[in-house]
Amino acid sequence: MAPKGPAAAPPGRQARNIPGKDSDFPMKTYGVVLIGCGHIGCEHLADIYFRPGIRIVAVVDTDLAKAEQARRRYAAAYCGADYRPFLEREDVEIVIIATNVDSHLAILRDCVRAGKHVLCEKPIAGSREEGRAFYECARNAPVQVSVAHILRYNETYRRARELIASGAIGQLKVVRMVQNHHSKDWPRYRRLLEDCSPVLDCGVHYFDVLQWFSGSPITRVSGIGAAVDPDLPAGVLNYGMVQLHTQSGVVGYYEAGWGRGFCSSNVKEFVGTQGHLTLTLRDFRTSHREEGDLIELFRQETGEYRAINVEGEYKPMWRQLSALIRRIEGKTSEMPPLADLYSAFLVGLAADEAIRTGEIRAPELPPAEEKRAVS
Ligand SMILES: NC(=O)c1ccc[n+]([C@@H]2O[C@H](COP(=O)([O-])OP(=O)(O)OC[C@H]3O[C@@H](n4cnc5c(N)ncnc54)[C@H](O)[C@@H]3O)[C@@H](O)[C@H]2O)c1
Repeated sequence: MAPKGPAAAPPGRQARNIPGKDSDFPMKTYGVVLIGCGHIGCEHLADIYFRPGIRIVAVVDTDLAKAEQARRRYAAAYCGADYRPFLEREDVEIVIIATNVDSHLAILRDCVRAGKHVLCEKPIAGSREEGRAFYECARNAPVQVSVAHILRYNETYRRARELIASGAIGQLKVVRMVQNHHSKDWPRYRRLLEDCSPVLDCGVHYFDVLQWFSGSPITRVSGIGAAVDPDLPAGVLNYGMVQLHTQSGVVGYYEAGWGRGFCSSNVKEFVGTQGHLTLTLRDFRTSHREEGDLIELFRQETGEYRAINVEGEYKPMWRQLSALIRRIEGKTSEMPPLADLYSAFLVGLAADEAIRTGEIRAPELPPAEEKRAVS
C-alpha cells in the first residue's frame, strides 16, 4: 500500500487555502474511490486527497496508465481499470464518478447496489430515458447521491445570488450567460461531444443558476445551433445558443461553443430594474487577479459602482464533497435538492430539442411528488 501523501498541493498546482473550520471535518475517515482520472477527476483528487478524514483507497480509469499516474500523484492505495472489485471493499464508503457521460447511470446503479454513497459528475445522462432512470435510482437509493453542480458551492456565485436576493439590482429581469471554450485538447472535447452537446453538458450548470437565482422554473426555450468543426461525428452540434424564459418573467440567454475555432469567453451578467451585477472569474480579469473573482455592482439611481473581490475557488471540490459527507452524517448540508438538478437537466434536453427542431419547447417538470425547491 502506498503511503499517505504530504499535506501539500502536488507539483504544478498552486497551493490552496483549506476552507472550513476543523469542526467541519468529518467525524471519521472515509474511504473514497475515484472513477475517471481525466480532467475533472484530477480536479476532484487535487482538492481532497490531503484532507483530514479522507483516504483515497483507489483511482480507476479504463486507461490504466492514467489511473497509475493518478495513484502516484495523489497517493492512492490502489489503482485499476475496472471499478467493480473496489465496490466490494468494506473500507470504501464514497465513490466519485468522473467518467464520460455514457457510463454515469451504469456506475451509479452498481454503486447503489453495493451500498456506496455517490458523488457523480454532471450531466447525469445524455438522453431523456437514461436521465430519468438516473434520477429514479438516485432518489430511491438507500445511500446518499450528490450530482456535481459545482457552482452551488462556488462562493462567488453564492455571493452574487445573495446580492440579487437582497434587492441590490432591483427586480431581476435579464440574464446573459456565455461559456465558450477554445478546445485545444480537441480529442477530449470530441469524445465528450459524442455523448451530448455543450448546451446540455455545460448548460445544466447555467440553467440551474437561472432557476436558483430567479427562484422560478424555466418554462420556455428556443435556440439555434451549428456543427462547426468539420470532423465531428454525424449529427453532433458543437455550438448552441438558447433563449430562456422563467415562469416569473425573467428572460435570458445561454451560449456554449466547444471547438478549435472558438475564442474562450465567459460572460455572466444579471440586469435588474435598479442596475446590474456582473461576475468575472479570476482568470478573465484584466487586473488584480490575485484578489480573486470580481463582482461588479451598478445601481442606476445613485450611480454607485462597487467592485467586490471574492476569494472563492472556481471548483471547490472539497466543499462539495464535505456537503455530501455532512448529509451522510445527518448534519445540515449545502447539498442542493436533487429535483432542482434534475430540472436543470430537463431544461438542457428541451434546449437541445429546440435547437434541432427550430421549435419553442417547454421543459418537462420533475415528477409532481417532488417539491421544486429552486432555493
Ligand atoms: N463540474 C464541472 O465543472 C465539470 C467540468 C468538466 C467536465 N465535467 C464532467 O465530468 C465528466 C468527465 O469529463 P472530463 O472533462 O473529465 O473528461 P475526460 O475525458 O478528461 O475524463 C474522463 C475519463 O473517464 C475515463 N472513463 C470513461 N469511461 C470509464 C469507465 N467506464 N470506467 C473508468 N474510467 C472511464 C476516460 O478514460 C477518461 O480518462 C463529464 O461528465 C463532464 O461533463 C464536469
